[in-house]
Amino acid sequence: PPAPPNAMIIFGAAGDLTKRKLIPALFHLCHGNLLPDTFAVVGLDRMEMDDATFQSMMAEEVKRNVGSAWDAETWARLCERLHYMQGNITDQATYVELCERLSGIDADRGTDGNYLFYLAVPPLLFGDITRLLGAVGLTAESENDWRRVIIEKPFGIDLDSAKALNRMLHETLDEDQIYRIDHYLGKETVQNIMVFRFSNGFIEPLWNRQHIDHIQITVAESVGVEHRGPYYDSAGALRDMIPNHLLVLLGFLGMEPPNSFDSQAVRDEINKVLDAVHPLTPEQVLTNAVRGQYGEGVMPNGEKVPAYRSSPGVDPNSRTETFAALKLTMDNWRWAGVPFYLRTGKRLTAQYTEVVIQFKRAPKIMFKDADTAQMNPDMLVLRIQPNEGIQMSFGAKIPGPRMRVGTVNMDFCYADYFGNAPATGYETLIYDCMNGDATLFKHADTVEKGWEIVESVQDVWSALPARDFPNYAAGTWGPAAAGNLLKNDGRLWRRITTPDEST
Ligand code: BG6
Repeated sequence: PPAPPNAMIIFGAAGDLTKRKLIPALFHLCHGNLLPDTFAVVGLDRMEMDDATFQSMMAEEVKRNVGSAWDAETWARLCERLHYMQGNITDQATYVELCERLSGIDADRGTDGNYLFYLAVPPLLFGDITRLLGAVGLTAESENDWRRVIIEKPFGIDLDSAKALNRMLHETLDEDQIYRIDHYLGKETVQNIMVFRFSNGFIEPLWNRQHIDHIQITVAESVGVEHRGPYYDSAGALRDMIPNHLLVLLGFLGMEPPNSFDSQAVRDEINKVLDAVHPLTPEQVLTNAVRGQYGEGVMPNGEKVPAYRSSPGVDPNSRTETFAALKLTMDNWRWAGVPFYLRTGKRLTAQYTEVVIQFKRAPKIMFKDADTAQMNPDMLVLRIQPNEGIQMSFGAKIPGPRMRVGTVNMDFCYADYFGNAPATGYETLIYDCMNGDATLFKHADTVEKGWEIVESVQDVWSALPARDFPNYAAGTWGPAAAGNLLKNDGRLWRRITTPDEST
């Protein structure tokens, strides 16, 4: 069903996120008839322009971003709901004017005083915007209407700053008005981890320390830092990816079945998983955490790429890591003794995100022709992106008179069943927020727990700046120490055989 009547107010309407993700996501929602007739957008930014200019600017961007999903009729329906307002977002006068605009829109469009404020701006501005919205009464809800705010990471740069941000937001907003986006939660394949585990009776009995040897989570990127040098150089791979996206995956993989798919029930289970993760002691950081920075190199497609330190906006002597790997363990009945190996990095050999669940070996192989040293362990691979799907690798008899065992794969590809659903990952999240469903958004606690897990790593790494950077060449699998993290435990990262196996 279409979302309830509402107006979506986008702060930073001329910025990248609005063009590349938000308006294309609204286009897809409109195409699926998931926006009500009583809907309007107010884009707010510094630039002078009228509604018509804003609309034609967005038309170009949407065309570019939605590709073959473009259709003029859907665009016409959305376009006539797009308004623009010029304003300085740190000036209270803008908010007084916004109130007037919104009352007019409520009257014309029937948006009923329900407002979704999307802060597509740097986090530095979150405090000013929410305070000023509060000052003019725009965050006050009544029995008949709602006011919600969506914000995006980074939610702080460490535990203290994340707590300070939460405190600041709570000065004006109730926790249930705050929708913290982690775009990994918008990915179909990430949500499918829960569906796979909790809608199939045969998975859960295997999903524990009795049967699982270890779990690998890889978010490999072949891209560099693109236009984000200054941000990335102050953040680094650990902060940029692990407390948020990789821990989202860990949460869904590790959680107990919730009592319901209610947002509180799901969040509680995720928080329990994060609580069970052992923070690394400073000594463990030295053995269980690996950092790397790429030097120049050649990508598999032959492209020569410069070192991280030569990227625009990056300090030429930067000690920031572009690769991070961790070995984490959990202290609970389901996972005691099962390591979770996490890794992420830029300029690696291939661009893919996957989870590998490696099962324990059979206790005894009685086929005497089987070459046990050559036998691969049984694995379940959840391909999060691209080539979305699930693969099960297991042993099968190689035809012939002898009892030899070889590895075979059973493979489910999303595209075979569901086609390539056009999506930016933001559709579900925006739609859920309009419906007041916070299940796929992060609670203040979850954000803080994420930082708690990486805090000791951050502390040790900043106290002992890396002396061996750059320590991997662009286009490789990362620093050798990341391989040793598993080798020391008698294990190996699953390696996709060719860079384009993932595409
Ligand atoms: C962002 C990070 O949150 O996620 C980027 O800031 C990273 O550095 C991106 O490239 C990865 O997202 P995805 O959806 O491409 O895996």
